[in-house]
Amino acid sequence: MKSVSEERTNDSPEAREAWGPGTLGVHAGAPEPRPGEAVVLPVVQSSTFFWNAPGDAPELRYSRYGNNPNQVAVAKKLAALEGTEASLAVASGMAATALAVLAVTRAGDHVVASKHLYGATSTFLADEMPHRGVTTTFVDPDETCAWESAMRDNTRILFLETPTNPVMRVFDPRIPVRLARQAGAVTMMDATFASPINLRPARLGVDIVIHSATKYLGGHSDLIAGVVSGSRELIGRVQRMLVLYGPALDPHAAWLLERGIKTLSVRMARHNRSGLELAAWLEGRPGISRVSYPGLASHPDRTLAGELLDGFGGMVGFVLESGGAGADAFCRNLEVARVAPSLGGVETLVSQPRFTSHIGLTPEERTQAGIPDGFVRVSVGLEEVRDLQRDFTRALEASR
Ligand SMILES: Cc1ncc(COP(=O)(O)O)c(C=O)c1O
Repeated sequence: MKSVSEERTNDSPEAREAWGPGTLGVHAGAPEPRPGEAVVLPVVQSSTFFWNAPGDAPELRYSRYGNNPNQVAVAKKLAALEGTEASLAVASGMAATALAVLAVTRAGDHVVASKHLYGATSTFLADEMPHRGVTTTFVDPDETCAWESAMRDNTRILFLETPTNPVMRVFDPRIPVRLARQAGAVTMMDATFASPINLRPARLGVDIVIHSATKYLGGHSDLIAGVVSGSRELIGRVQRMLVLYGPALDPHAAWLLERGIKTLSVRMARHNRSGLELAAWLEGRPGISRVSYPGLASHPDRTLAGELLDGFGGMVGFVLESGGAGADAFCRNLEVARVAPSLGGVETLVSQPRFTSHIGLTPEERTQAGIPDGFVRVSVGLEEVRDLQRDFTRALEASR
């Protein structure tokens, strides 16, 4: 049996260089076409794989190792889209983050992380990693020299997220990248909200790119998965953690994820267009005091977002003057958009961070973070914008 990494796919390195994201999303990582074989890689729902004779396999293939054919196909597609040597698909976005951090740290090491992170990522770094002897200093990337002044001799990781939840701040990874290179540390970036269509952090020098593939990559709110991308050497270390800790992606979920990525580029084009249109429309509505969207001139990071991103995404935040009660009424009166946490799917989902990602903060802390009661987060789906506007108009009236 051929080793998984030897298997031929239909994307040569030259094709990877030449193809655009739409073509890569469809073709990269797919098995080389052979007459009579299925156009779509079937679900290989098998934990293990035959050997001809004891010890004859050049690479042990086992679905916990991340090298089941479905896991490999999705990883190759992602590496092609990110422009990295390798990727690894795992069981969730949090598994991706945890394995990446575990892969490059040991007891006594230190992490510098942006304070604008997904809640579970912050908790993992602040509360969990200290039990393994790894401490984290959280910094505000807005402050001059924030990264540099927090670094120590034992700093191993600089960790950031862009765009951030739910105020969609955009931070420049090139600053931590430069510092990490000088110090022999590793930069990690969670780019879930951008997807590889809007942002490819590895091209800016980021060493490890993390995605919750549960969101835009899967795109249909029907799977939980995560992806880590980077150099072959670093991803090899992450894979060792996968083998030891075991959060493998089920082959069926890997198949669903691969199917989702085939339409990522068209979905993101629509999310980008609808996100911008809805955000601009919301900004003019009575009863709304602020809209957070990196494509609006009013956003603090509009210039940087224009420089770094190929699209501003489908995530929009806004603050209702009528506060928490108004936001409750707004949510209750929606008919097209639905109330649920999570994001990045075909359907428009609405949530209030005070009940989800930021439930652990006091109202004062939330206000300080730009998320007062009355903040509503929208993951703009693929519906017609005019239908969402009609839906929101009615819900906004009810919220006042
Ligand atoms: C930015 C970001 N990173 C990571 C995660 C964790 O992903 P998962 O739920 O797939 O573990 C999430 C989940 O909402 C997220 O929004």
